[in-house]
Amino acid sequence: MKGDKPFPPLKNDNLLRAARGEVVDRVPVWVMRQAGRYLPEFQELRKKHDFFTVCRTPELACEVTMQPLRRFDLDASIIFSDILVIPQALGLTVEMHAGVGPVLPQPIRTPEDLKRLTPDGALSRLMYVGEAITMMRHKLDGRVPLIGFTGAPWTLLGYMIEGGGSKTMSKAKAWLNEYPEDTKLFLNLLTDAIVDYLEMQVQAGAQMLQIFESSAEHLSKEEFLEWAVPYLRRIRNELVDRLTKKVIPLVPLTLFAKGAGHSLKEQSELGYDVIGLDWTVDPIEARKEVGPNITLQGNLDPQDMYRDPEELRTLTTEMVHKFGKSRYIANLGHGITPQTPINSMEVLVEAVHKAL
Ligand code: CP3
Repeated sequence: MKGDKPFPPLKNDNLLRAARGEVVDRVPVWVMRQAGRYLPEFQELRKKHDFFTVCRTPELACEVTMQPLRRFDLDASIIFSDILVIPQALGLTVEMHAGVGPVLPQPIRTPEDLKRLTPDGALSRLMYVGEAITMMRHKLDGRVPLIGFTGAPWTLLGYMIEGGGSKTMSKAKAWLNEYPEDTKLFLNLLTDAIVDYLEMQVQAGAQMLQIFESSAEHLSKEEFLEWAVPYLRRIRNELVDRLTKKVIPLVPLTLFAKGAGHSLKEQSELGYDVIGLDWTVDPIEARKEVGPNITLQGNLDPQDMYRDPEELRTLTTEMVHKFGKSRYIANLGHGITPQTPINSMEVLVEAVHKAL
């Protein structure tokens, strides 16, 4: 954990200012999955080390976290890890298969399987993430803020029931109808683990937190309000309560619910500082929905990174003009994809910084 050594003072705090609605020197920009397979140096490191070994070894996690910062003038770093470290800490095996993605060979198929989960001591099995965060804060030397993250309950439940990614979420969605009470138990169990995990990340040195509800896209508006929103509300309220009671300064919280552009007003009422948008949402419409007191993050289509540099520059500039300089963090509308040309990252970052 944090230890005695104070962290270096922050030099570029535009991300945190934007999150708090303060004036910024320039529009801050970072990219979801900025440390990832589009970088040859990441691919090289992955040849030598298994994915979860990188996550579990603070030196390696820090090295990968640093890789995009060496190349690009980014305004944030995000600790290298994965949302599936929580299912692992709860006792499930998670493997990363090349070309497939995450595989959970013994998924939760029936409510009976919930007994296999091991919530007791889960946090102690996640402390390596805290160690990586603390180490990274020192290695960053105050250059930019460090973001911590977690998967949200519905998204984690989906992976744990499906046994991996799924185009339809048919098994997880069947649970909502067949076992509604067990689904609530399961979502609450995940929420408890998530709150512990986020509190630990703040104590370790995370300066901002993002909650990934990436699988919200599988829910209708009604389902999102029933199966995601109550738990997202609990996460924020319990985390704020805990930090306040322990007199630990709060950090800005971002909610990224992919595909939930239908519920921006409802999201804006949950107490998060920042709402992440996917590219299907219009910035002007989003601002009308959430009002003036929320920061918006997003939302260029990751596929636009495959366009000609000039086209990409124009689209990025137009996007920043629509969002404006106040209460805005530039990002893609989802993670950067593996074949993205590296030059597109340079164009994106420069276009954001020059737009206003
Ligand atoms: O943003 C960052 O740079 C930090 C690292 C990060 C990773 N995963 C590393 C990763 C973050 C924030 C995540 C979050 C994550 N993981 C999400 C939510 C964000 C989103 O994209 O919706 C989800 C759904 C996962 C689960 C997951 N992990 C999937 C579906 C996959 C396979 C698909 C893919 O993009 O590769 C992963 C693997 C993964 N997580 C990789 C990386 C760099 C690539 C794996 C490899 O090196 O083989």
